[in-house]
Amino acid sequence: MTYSFDKIIDRRGTDSLKYDLAAKRGMPEDIIPLWVADMDFPAPPEVLEALVEKSRHGIFGYSDTIGDDYFNALADWYASRFNWHLSPKWLVKTPGVVFAICTAIRALTEEGDAVLIQEPVYYPFAGSVRANNRNLVVNELVYRDGRYYIDFDDFEDKIARNRVRLFILCSPHNPVGRVWSEEELAAMGEICLKYGVKVVADEIHADFVYPGYRHHVFETIRPEFADMTITCTAPTKTFNLAGLQISNVFISNTELRKKFKQELEKTGYSQPNIMGLVACKAAYRYGAQWLEDLKSYLVSNLALVRDFLAQELPSVRLVEPEGTYLLWLDFRALDLPDKELNDLIVQKAGLWLNAGPMFGAGGEGFQRINIGCPAATLQKALERLKKAFR
Ligand SMILES: Cc1ncc(COP(=O)(O)O)c(C=O)c1O
Repeated sequence: MTYSFDKIIDRRGTDSLKYDLAAKRGMPEDIIPLWVADMDFPAPPEVLEALVEKSRHGIFGYSDTIGDDYFNALADWYASRFNWHLSPKWLVKTPGVVFAICTAIRALTEEGDAVLIQEPVYYPFAGSVRANNRNLVVNELVYRDGRYYIDFDDFEDKIARNRVRLFILCSPHNPVGRVWSEEELAAMGEICLKYGVKVVADEIHADFVYPGYRHHVFETIRPEFADMTITCTAPTKTFNLAGLQISNVFISNTELRKKFKQELEKTGYSQPNIMGLVACKAAYRYGAQWLEDLKSYLVSNLALVRDFLAQELPSVRLVEPEGTYLLWLDFRALDLPDKELNDLIVQKAGLWLNAGPMFGAGGEGFQRINIGCPAATLQKALERLKKAFR
């Protein structure tokens, strides 16, 4: 490995949500935070160098991606890894994927319209639908023999009965870790096509897929899918840049793009943060080797959790992930109400995870743990869990 991820870097006192909110929220002082989805690793050195160089220049005036370099870095990344061939005019930059989802909801639906999501899912999906006064419709994922599946009959039935206008797809799926197969994506897309449902495809975790799996960009599966889809991407999970607030949204359909841009204009947002642009370009251009090494490291962190649970805590079941650095743990064999389970994890084990019910229907009895940290931190967290449950 060219890059190492073992070093423990103290993030306390850096205004980090993951670390510095603990005291404010009444958590124990020495809590190990493995909740929000950022990693305890510095970004690729090439990204840091680009940011330092920009800082040295010292002028942070209004900026945008005037030349082709930025787009070309993205286009090369998606063409070589996902066989997705982008056109510069499809690109709309936003300060984040959740921002883009909210914008898409307002652009493509009216107040009171039905929007479909698949719970348990990243909680801002439901939050964005509700905050925009849309009607939340849930196609609950089915957990069977340690794996999650889509109930396609329910998917179609919910769309038809509620006259769903928009579907927010999470692919790969946070928190259940599924990397949807081409067949599954095609089946969902065909149903959306049949009922005229537009799709927001949140593919922010696309770069984190474990060996043996492949991420398919939803809109590449059929030309008709591209025509009804807004695809949200970002370098922020892949390269650990969440605080730099940059995401790249691709909309090939001219009418959808126009509506999205009109809605964006209403927010008053125009040029992105220059540091986000600098980091994004450097990451996609020079970050490939770093990402490969990071993925190997995550594979070994995943093995650490898998082996530890099997040997030391067999009543806690790992839902084997196909993608993402977020693991979904099944604590239901312990038969504890969620509040008690949470108290035990926070107060006794001194761990800050994400409690399953946050993710909506089907989250009860589960917890999400973020393995984007040095192995020593993870080992310590697992030991604490064992001690608390003993
Ligand atoms: C599925 C998913 N979408 C979006 C986000 C956040 O994206 P952003 O910070 O760009 O709003 C996350 C972060 O965890 C996520 O897991």
